[in-house]
Amino acid sequence: MSQVLVTGAKGQLGREIKKLRNLFSQVYTFTDIKELDLTDVDAIERRLNSHPVDYIINCAAYTNVDGAESDPEGAMLLNRDIVINLARVLEKFPGTRLIHISTDYIFPGKLHRPIREDDTPDPLSIYGRTKLEGEKILHDHPRALIFRTSWLYSIFGRNFVKSMINRLDKKEELSVVYDQVGSPTYAEDLAKAIMKIISDLELGEKSFVPGIFNFSNEGVCSWYDLAIEVCRQISCGGSIQPVETSAYPLPAKRPPYSVLNKSKIKEVYGVEVPYWRDSLVRCIKDLV
Ligand SMILES: NC(=O)c1ccc[n+]([C@@H]2O[C@H](COP(=O)([O-])OP(=O)(O)OC[C@H]3O[C@@H](n4cnc5c(N)ncnc54)[C@H](OP(=O)(O)O)[C@@H]3O)[C@@H](O)[C@H]2O)c1
Repeated sequence: MSQVLVTGAKGQLGREIKKLRNLFSQVYTFTDIKELDLTDVDAIERRLNSHPVDYIINCAAYTNVDGAESDPEGAMLLNRDIVINLARVLEKFPGTRLIHISTDYIFPGKLHRPIREDDTPDPLSIYGRTKLEGEKILHDHPRALIFRTSWLYSIFGRNFVKSMINRLDKKEELSVVYDQVGSPTYAEDLAKAIMKIISDLELGEKSFVPGIFNFSNEGVCSWYDLAIEVCRQISCGGSIQPVETSAYPLPAKRPPYSVLNKSKIKEVYGVEVPYWRDSLVRCIKDLV
């Protein structure tokens, strides 16, 4: 039975994986910074020596997109240096594969079609730059999988969907940008996709193909559309105004268009991708 270590496990994605672990026969263990600080390469090595694993799913990251603009070293430490440490440790553990998570924010968002894995990145923000640096370390690694995702939300942690529900509950009048278009990703769907791939690999139903794979929910919307849909699903009484990005200045620039093309993950790993509104219904049902 495959042993799987989930690092950064107290974040949104890590907690969704924990929520689903009993649906799969693999043995999952979970660590966050307190149990295993990934900036400490010796600690990772000690951990793998005492608890060997077949897979590491690295959910640890610096995810404060605006905060990274004034803390580039902090963002680089978590988004690049941790990956350097993990890659170094992989060399000593040839039986271990690494699953790492990246972001649509490595792209400038100027294409007018869904972004493919081999499109050229050119990040607009420090967060995007540091995530791209992390990716580069693993690009040609024969035992690494990188899942690029976008607009992650979950029943856990802080995210746009939960913030909208909170603010709409308080009947706040909201302004939300309509000129940034992408695809939301329910972290439960990403967790399930990763866990199913690991399970299929163990059962021999799929062969391991390393590299980059896009995963977000199916469909396209703006942040405004997403806010309106949250409002509709919770029958809110608040009001939401569409505004342009320029009316809502933030420290970090975001790509105006960052829809990810999911053909590769569907073809190679047979992953089914739920439509974003359906996933939102499932998440909100668990939240309210
Ligand atoms: N959130 C999004 O919208 C989004 C979009 C696209 C891609 N992604 C990517 O998806 C992945 C998962 O994101 P998420 O939203 O689940 O992240 P998250 O909620 O911010 O969780 C990250 C976790 O990593 C932990 N961590 C920080 N430093 C660590 C260290 N040195 N060692 C071990 N753990 C450490 C954090 O602990 P503390 O909380 O104590 O710092 C936190 O529990 C990330 O790679 C992210 O870049 C996210």
